[in-house]
Amino acid sequence: MAKNTPYESDRDLFSPNRNISPITSELDKQGRLMIGGCLLSKLAEGYGTPLYVLDEASLRASCIAYRDALKRYYPGSSIPLYASKANSSLVLSKIVADEGFGIDVVSEGELITALRGGVPGAKIVLHGNNKSDKELLMAYENGVTIVLDNHHDINRLAELIPQDKPPAELMLRFTPGIECHTHEYIRTGHIDSKFGFGLEELQEVFIKLKEANWARLNGLHAHIGSQIFELEPHRDLAIVMADVFQMARKLGHPVKDLNVGGGLGIRYVKSDDPPAIDSWIKVISSAVIDAFTSRSIDLPRLICEPGRSLVASAGVTLYKLGARKHIPGLRTYLSVDGGMSDNPRPITYQSLYSACLADCPMGLAEETVTIAGKHCESGDVLLKELSLPYSKNGDVLVVFGTGAYNFSMSSNYNRIPRPAAVIVKDGESELIQQREQPEDLLRYDLLPDRFSR
Ligand SMILES: Cc1ncc(COP(=O)(O)O)c(C=O)c1O
Repeated sequence: MAKNTPYESDRDLFSPNRNISPITSELDKQGRLMIGGCLLSKLAEGYGTPLYVLDEASLRASCIAYRDALKRYYPGSSIPLYASKANSSLVLSKIVADEGFGIDVVSEGELITALRGGVPGAKIVLHGNNKSDKELLMAYENGVTIVLDNHHDINRLAELIPQDKPPAELMLRFTPGIECHTHEYIRTGHIDSKFGFGLEELQEVFIKLKEANWARLNGLHAHIGSQIFELEPHRDLAIVMADVFQMARKLGHPVKDLNVGGGLGIRYVKSDDPPAIDSWIKVISSAVIDAFTSRSIDLPRLICEPGRSLVASAGVTLYKLGARKHIPGLRTYLSVDGGMSDNPRPITYQSLYSACLADCPMGLAEETVTIAGKHCESGDVLLKELSLPYSKNGDVLVVFGTGAYNFSMSSNYNRIPRPAAVIVKDGESELIQQREQPEDLLRYDLLPDRFSR
């Protein structure tokens, strides 16, 4: 490796979260873009558009990067969990479980997906600031660890768990008061957060839980945000968590798990410069080791919960270009056959993306366009100021970095069916999510009799 690069090692350079495109991206002889050995324009033709494409090799490479880094830098035991809110599906559950990950879920839907995807209950963690009784019971009955988020969770579990049954396996989430420089709406570690107990009430909560024979508190959880590029907040987090860990131990809880949440960012656009997975784990590990050894506490089992950095750059979305509107002196809108319903991040968080033409990814920029979605909302714009070669109606546009928080946040706004999704590997593609049909959207509509009389 060349000296004087900004990267510490090859591990930094090849970390999938530092690549805009999936790691298997290559050009065929005609210069057309292939991922996982599959020609993207062919996938678009065969499966239709919009189409989510998931590169299995990128996903597995990210899993391996997390797993190996934990082994390399953390001498205690550890387990990474996949935060399935990023993209929940049977196939994702199966792959991450194969790679030795557990899963973090936040709803009954994500929980049954993880269980049916083959993740054992003991490797699942249930989060949520307003869990239903059904969710709590389902988690308890499947041996899932429940993350206590507030007093409501404690009160409901106290009522739901029969006296003569084993205690619930628990973690406790608190807001560590650490603020990260990400977009306000995706910041959760801040003190003004709907998630978790406040630091000031923890002592009282630990005392209350000590008296509860239905409760077995195994560990602590905190999450300080998402799409984070800074490493410093994680050092601070380890210190705060070690203090709380010590408090829990002093109050009689034999806690052993320390769950530091997720949050590592990815490269959506060239100017993004996220740390590599390896560096993130290295900093977290050394911070936890320092914080715990300096307090003479034995090392906890280290748990982290990456979502975005595991799957975002493994995914791309294919769209077909349609209408073109040129406003002289202002801009050219190119409309695609999807938009805010399959990717609500730009309209919600003003998120930036990178894109190119599937069959001309290296073509010279001939015009600057704005990629508009097809929804009835003027803010439905996926990319502003995108430089492209001239394109024509029907050309396939590839938007990168859509593997996380796209399908999972998709909607049927304007009654637009959700796209299909395929997984690609070694030149083969397989459907992992069927395309919704307009008829599917009517499945739950009811017309009471009096309207047809
Ligand atoms: C509790 C918790 N854990 C993990 C994650 C995953 O975060 P990310 O996708 O940024 O890694 C989130 C996302 O907001 C979260 O709320």
